[in-house]
Amino acid sequence: MQVQVKERKKEILKYVNEKKAFIDEKAIGLLKERTDFKEMVDNLLSENVVFITNELVEKKILVSRLGKEDQAEVVVNNTVFKPIAKEYGGKIRTIPKREVTGQSKSEGKAKDFLDYFRRKFELLSRILKRRQNFTPRPIKTLRSTPKGKPVDVIGMVYKKWVTKNGHIGLQFEDLDGHCIALIMKNDKHLIDQAERVMVDGVIAIKAVKWNENMLIVKEIFWPDIGIRQPKRIDTEFAIASTSDFHMGSKLFLEKPCNSFINWINGRGVSEKEKQKVGKIKYLIITGDNVDGIGIYPNQLNELAIKDIHKQYEAFTNIITQIPEYIEIVICPGQHDAVRWADPQPAVPKEFMPELYSRENIHFVGSPGWLEIEGLKIMMYHGGALHDLIGSVGFLSSEHPEEAMIEVLKKRDIMSTYGMKQPYVPEREDYMVIQDEPDMIYIGDMHHNAYGNYRGTTIINSGTWQARTDYQVKLGHVPTPGIVPIYNMKTGKINENYFIPKEVPK
Ligand SMILES: [Fe+2]
Repeated sequence: MQVQVKERKKEILKYVNEKKAFIDEKAIGLLKERTDFKEMVDNLLSENVVFITNELVEKKILVSRLGKEDQAEVVVNNTVFKPIAKEYGGKIRTIPKREVTGQSKSEGKAKDFLDYFRRKFELLSRILKRRQNFTPRPIKTLRSTPKGKPVDVIGMVYKKWVTKNGHIGLQFEDLDGHCIALIMKNDKHLIDQAERVMVDGVIAIKAVKWNENMLIVKEIFWPDIGIRQPKRIDTEFAIASTSDFHMGSKLFLEKPCNSFINWINGRGVSEKEKQKVGKIKYLIITGDNVDGIGIYPNQLNELAIKDIHKQYEAFTNIITQIPEYIEIVICPGQHDAVRWADPQPAVPKEFMPELYSRENIHFVGSPGWLEIEGLKIMMYHGGALHDLIGSVGFLSSEHPEEAMIEVLKKRDIMSTYGMKQPYVPEREDYMVIQDEPDMIYIGDMHHNAYGNYRGTTIINSGTWQARTDYQVKLGHVPTPGIVPIYNMKTGKINENYFIPKEVPK
């Protein structure tokens, strides 16, 4: 008998593996006593279950005994799902003046670019001028400064290069002057810092005048954000976040996504888990909601849904299954049906009319801003981070939170103009981070990541797309099927897996 049971354990594992599902040890323990285990597994999988847990098996066993599903529900789950988040209304508002949706006025002319860079310089130099012990002067006044005298200057970096002697040169400009700022190769600390200096970035330097047109840099400052205590609230609300559904892609992970939908509805979860899920009052979705059409060469071969409207219908079908007491905010990504260039406006109503008609669903651009329970939140899909990561040696796409910390120091989402990420020179600057955010949600990297910088919490929310060939080529390993929830009372982040860690992605 013992041998038979051992064999059955192997058989169960094999059977579940063949079905591309997963099972926990306790569930195997329950099933190995039963000759009808295949029927039970099939039954569970037909309900879109991906993880077979002992609770689900217990429930099925009870159903088979009682012959009635709702009776089993009552016995197994002593209480019904009563989410605390349903009891109270949410406090959420979007901040339209901080995003481009409905406000794009650029004609893309040379003058628009000129005006854009001037505005960016003015906004960022205003922040830099607040620094103590720093008295910047216009570059054009440096001509009359005696050689060897210390000077403070704010400038935009027009060009960056390594001189033939190994120093780093910066062509440095303000609104009506320019000079060369030299970082000496023997100044190790400054040379390290210089790696973070980006062309088109606005920085401040303390320097010494060398000759008529040249300064020797002694210190570099970025606009940066202030040090603040992370904001907490008194209510036990949580923000769940997710991203990069890529609906329509053949690699969309349907089963894990369905498990997520069951979970957020409190279906098939333990009482303890229900307490946690019931706190979710907000859900942030940071773009690439669909895979799109014609985003890259030969994409059609990779698509399960080849019509953009049908892709959005499938996305709508997922989102409408989320309980309506949860306030949902959606921004676009590079795969969505809006312009690729930053700043991106919200995905238009014509693609998701049903979601637009719901009061609990809000659409913002990328970057987009909102306030939840008094916390200032910035959402940004992440396009500009690729150029930043490609330019700064210590950054990587597996740690997008570190790239976002660099963005916070620069107070500017825009990376160097003319690299891969396109930008539209809008008449308002939506790329400069004018307000200090309490939280930042990003996506795009398909990699869950978390960070905190000077009181700002940074969350990258992962994906529902399996590893793409492109990612294999790059050696990038995504983290699909993981949904973080942020407890607004404690500030703790809890990851929820809808795909096992050890599964090949
Ligand atoms: Fe994506």
